[in-house]
Amino acid sequence: MVVFNVSRVETAPIDGQKPGTSGLRKKVKVFKQPHYLQNFVQATFNALTAQKVRGATLVVSGDGRYFSKDAIQHAFEILLTLLTMRARACIFACLSVCIIIKMAAGNGARRVWVGQNGLLSTPAVSAVIRERVGVDVSYCLVQKAGLIFFNNVNGSPMHNEFYTPELEYQGSRATGAFILTASHNPGGPNEDFGIKYNMENGGPAPEGITDKIYENTKTIKEYLMTDVPDVYPSSWPLYVDIAAIGVTSFNGPEGQFDVEVFDSASDYVKLMKSIFDFESIRKLLSSPKFTFCYDALHGVAGAYANRIFVEELGAQESSLLNCVPKEDFGGGHPDPNLTYAKELVDCMGLGKSNSEVEPPEFGAAADGDADRNMILGKRFFVTPSDSVAIIAANAVEAIPYFSAGLKGVARSMPTSAALDVVAKNLNLKFFEVPTGWKFFGNLMDAGLCSVCGEESFGTGSDHIREKDGIWAVLAWLSILAYKNKQNLDGGKLVTVEDIVRSHWSSYGRHYYTRYDYENVDAGAAKELMAYLVKLQSSLSEVNKIVCGIRSDVSKVVHADEFEYKDPVDSSISKHQGIRYLFEDGSRLVFRLSGTGSEGATIRLYIEQYEKDPSKTGRDSQDALAPLVEVALGLSKMQEFTGRSAPTVIT
Ligand code: G6P
Ligand code: ZN
Repeated sequence: MVVFNVSRVETAPIDGQKPGTSGLRKKVKVFKQPHYLQNFVQATFNALTAQKVRGATLVVSGDGRYFSKDAIQHAFEILLTLLTMRARACIFACLSVCIIIKMAAGNGARRVWVGQNGLLSTPAVSAVIRERVGVDVSYCLVQKAGLIFFNNVNGSPMHNEFYTPELEYQGSRATGAFILTASHNPGGPNEDFGIKYNMENGGPAPEGITDKIYENTKTIKEYLMTDVPDVYPSSWPLYVDIAAIGVTSFNGPEGQFDVEVFDSASDYVKLMKSIFDFESIRKLLSSPKFTFCYDALHGVAGAYANRIFVEELGAQESSLLNCVPKEDFGGGHPDPNLTYAKELVDCMGLGKSNSEVEPPEFGAAADGDADRNMILGKRFFVTPSDSVAIIAANAVEAIPYFSAGLKGVARSMPTSAALDVVAKNLNLKFFEVPTGWKFFGNLMDAGLCSVCGEESFGTGSDHIREKDGIWAVLAWLSILAYKNKQNLDGGKLVTVEDIVRSHWSSYGRHYYTRYDYENVDAGAAKELMAYLVKLQSSLSEVNKIVCGIRSDVSKVVHADEFEYKDPVDSSISKHQGIRYLFEDGSRLVFRLSGTGSEGATIRLYIEQYEKDPSKTGRDSQDALAPLVEVALGLSKMQEFTGRSAPTVIT
């Protein structure tokens, strides 16, 4: 076994390492600064406390996005001259994974688990933390047989007379994970990189921990790193080939340290098969009436799409678009919305180019780390707010995992109230939480919530503690399979559009749109928000302005800054977005994005409820035009930002 020592590397605080809505996201050039990643990782270990990190099993993987070649050269300068080309390629792709492995060992972790090639989707990480049992044969043998037993060098556990499946079963479970992703932000040398920590429940670290991490980054003086022996081939972690599945063991001051590389998809696939009726989805996908298209936007979802949709469910390979994960997402913006998932949008007949080819019946896309989803029907867009409401309304009948009933449902504040109406009708517990998936986690851990979703293309359930892009697609396919049970052999197919329209007739429709103003000057964005907060002190003043802009919209009856008291731990989250609530149930919400990496992004959410079934079929931009005018006028959007139009409309 390779032996390593631990050294303390001197460092100094670096400004701006405050985690946002979902971890630390910055341009690659920022992460390239010496000690930048290391400081953040050590600050995280310190926040978790040395006691918890010692002996821990940590998952380290991500969406495979680019992390600078220069930084790699910097960090591994000497070693690179000693390496084979194959090892170099692996290191180039996985610098950050390697740094974290070395730091985990330095901080006394017992083992690190890495998805093959450093790839794991965010939902798969959550599933791995909650479900996976590590092989860990040597550990079991030491425990059980009192013998020291080494794994072989290329990783696969060595079998001998002491090995039994029962021993393997007693393997380790993960304590947490570093996820290397900037989610839906573009990747590449001039784009974004990111890192976040997830806890042992599989969900993002709560604010208590992320605040501590930030405080630690402001005072950090040193980090712990293993020294790298400089003689090839016993150098490590270069000795761990993260392209090859297996376990490699080392010996450090705290004892044995293992790096286990495992298949990125199998735990996740197993979990999906335990939730959905794969057989009925397979029937749907193999029916000539049903056509399907999935776009991974060159994100990590591609690594799962082939396994699940093609191998398990029998979809045609040609139905997968952009399903080869790329470190720069093929130069695209891996965000599944109507603007960035252009190829899928065109293919579904929603683009400008009017192709002769008949679009598929169902289309879906994922973001870079595969936790987001967009659901489309033929020439039809399903808003994420409607999507979660429709899944909740049909879950019990269509999805075996929910057959005993839903414990409750939840949405983020800016998400439309479509889910509220379903909750009311089905008499379900309902929660409105601030933006950010971590808020759902507490409710789920307390058994209060089964299905939840956000307007920002996130949908999920309590099977894990992250939103789950592929789960959402499987949920929709399950609903389609259920509604078409009798129709696949004869009869007309019930389409995505039919399902949505019939939902609107039963529950009413929440017309909804979101305007994003990206990369606005941060000062100007703050001023706009401050102006809107100040305005709230006088409703009569607000209504005077509103009426002056459009006399045909209803009155503002309440305005506030959203504040949330977590019903489980009673923690309070303030300043979660500015709300203007109208008498007829319409809403305007203004929020600053917490996921951008440069400047500020202002999000404006506009919503109007229509109960009358004869009026639920309008074009949403037409229906919302008066409210949009009011929102832009009330906020003086152009005056503050200099923008005459949003960057993205969804
Ligand atoms: C991430 C989080 C979501 C959240 C979204 C909001 O995707 O996981 O829970 O809704 O960010 O992003 P924003 O840019 O609006 O802060
Ligand atoms: Zn994401």
